[in-house]
Amino acid sequence: MTDNGTGTHGAVLQDAAPQQDGPLVELRGAGKSYGNIRALHGVDLTVRPGQVTCVLGDNGAGKSTLIKIISGLHQHTEGEFLVDEEPVRFTTPREALDRGIATVYQDLATVPLMPVWRNFFLGSEMTKGPWPVRRLDIARMKATADQELRNMGIVLDDLEQPIGTLSGGQRQCVAIARAVYFGARVLILDEPTAALGVKQSGVVLKYIAAARDRGLGVIFITHNPHHAYMVGDHFSVLRLGTLELSASRAEVSLEELTNHMAGGAELAALKHELAQVRGVDTDELPEESDLTPPVAPSPEGTP
Ligand SMILES: Nc1ncnc2c1ncn2[C@@H]1O[C@H](COP(=O)(O)OP(=O)(O)OP(=O)(O)O)[C@@H](O)[C@H]1O
Ligand SMILES: [Mg+2]
Repeated sequence: MTDNGTGTHGAVLQDAAPQQDGPLVELRGAGKSYGNIRALHGVDLTVRPGQVTCVLGDNGAGKSTLIKIISGLHQHTEGEFLVDEEPVRFTTPREALDRGIATVYQDLATVPLMPVWRNFFLGSEMTKGPWPVRRLDIARMKATADQELRNMGIVLDDLEQPIGTLSGGQRQCVAIARAVYFGARVLILDEPTAALGVKQSGVVLKYIAAARDRGLGVIFITHNPHHAYMVGDHFSVLRLGTLELSASRAEVSLEELTNHMAGGAELAALKHELAQVRGVDTDELPEESDLTPPVAPSPEGTP
């Protein structure tokens, strides 16, 4: 087995990928309405090779709608969507994949009881021998999965273990390595760190950086400005379906980004309201979005 797996699907697609400096993916004034509901409106977004574009926003801001357009699940109803600088309109996720746009969804499409290597090749298994005696090439799949995970710096003790026994963070990492191997040029991650603890989030962020260093354009969807700022080159904040902020790293600080996410004015109003509640010290409240609900003051006389 050679290092780069010559002759494999991933290597072929990657060699064929055009070398370019221009944007891989671009949205120009793009929008989407579901019947009467306008979920997204007038959004500009540029994804360049070797960069991480972070899309932030509160619940219902339109983040998933945005990536559904790029990944071919939904179609935009206004504006333009360009891939390699030419307008496109995908009708299926397969078409997006064929253009090198891979999406890792939060509820990963894995089979929990199947081994890691089997999940790595799910739907694109390697085979050997001529028809009708074609069989799965298990040895080659195991060796390739092992090599590809190592190439990304992911070390797992045993590729035979069911993928369901891996931590959420490890499963995200396997999915990232898989997308890279199968020739992704654009990697979309929908809230990969949302359900993870601090340490596991750090691990996933590390592989987002690894994918970027391999020249992929990464779209990183998150609620968390801290996670975004650790790896992001560009930040787009959505609010109620429109872009509230679009800024490069040089143009925005972590504090400013956090403030945009929290909705500075809304937070101030909330603080003012909370100040009326007995027992809540608003000076102690964080400036960030992760405000916890106030504890109701206990009635007089009870402990
Ligand atoms: N299939 C649909 N039909 C009708 N309305 C939809 C549909 N999908 C999304 N919406 C609406 O579009 C808006 C944006 O939703 P979207 O799922 O893109 O937000 P989000 O930023 O991903 O939120 P979350 O953080 O909760 O995942 C919401 O008001 C939502 O109710
Ligand atoms: Mg969503």
